[in-house]
Amino acid sequence: MRPEPRWSEDFPVEWERDHYITRRELAKFLVLGSMLLAGANVLIRILGFRRAKPDASRRRIGSLSQVPLGGSMLFRYPTEGDPCILLRGEDGSLKAYSQVCTHLSCSVIYKREAGKLFCPCHCGYFSPADGRPTAGPPTRPLPRIRIERDGEDLYATGREG
Ligand code: FES
Repeated sequence: MRPEPRWSEDFPVEWERDHYITRRELAKFLVLGSMLLAGANVLIRILGFRRAKPDASRRRIGSLSQVPLGGSMLFRYPTEGDPCILLRGEDGSLKAYSQVCTHLSCSVIYKREAGKLFCPCHCGYFSPADGRPTAGPPTRPLPRIRIERDGEDLYATGREG
């Protein structure tokens, strides 16, 4: 007969019961797991609110001569990590949106011939008039960037949504 190892006196393990989990242990695991997920959801929600706050900083993004009638221009606002697109209508109107698709964050481009904002990843379309999704998987509108014109200079003054 094999002698009992010394550690088994301090940490006795019965192999037959090694994988046995009691109902109480399972309930504890489920409650703690649920609390952890609920806490993570609250944290994500708080971070989302902080990020969605409109940024009131005013920054020059270019000049009107850079955007032809019916054309578009890319810029970054409010930080260098936030790509945006400015559209100039045939009537001279200016609209700007975040270039980040609200489906899975691909870059939206302006299809001038179709007169639509287009996301090539999953063929999502957005209205250039208000950034609302018009076709494909996106369900939320593109965040809007407020634009001001001062002579030839164009300024971004805030982000909505
Ligand atoms: S990421 Fe734009 S449609 Fe999917």
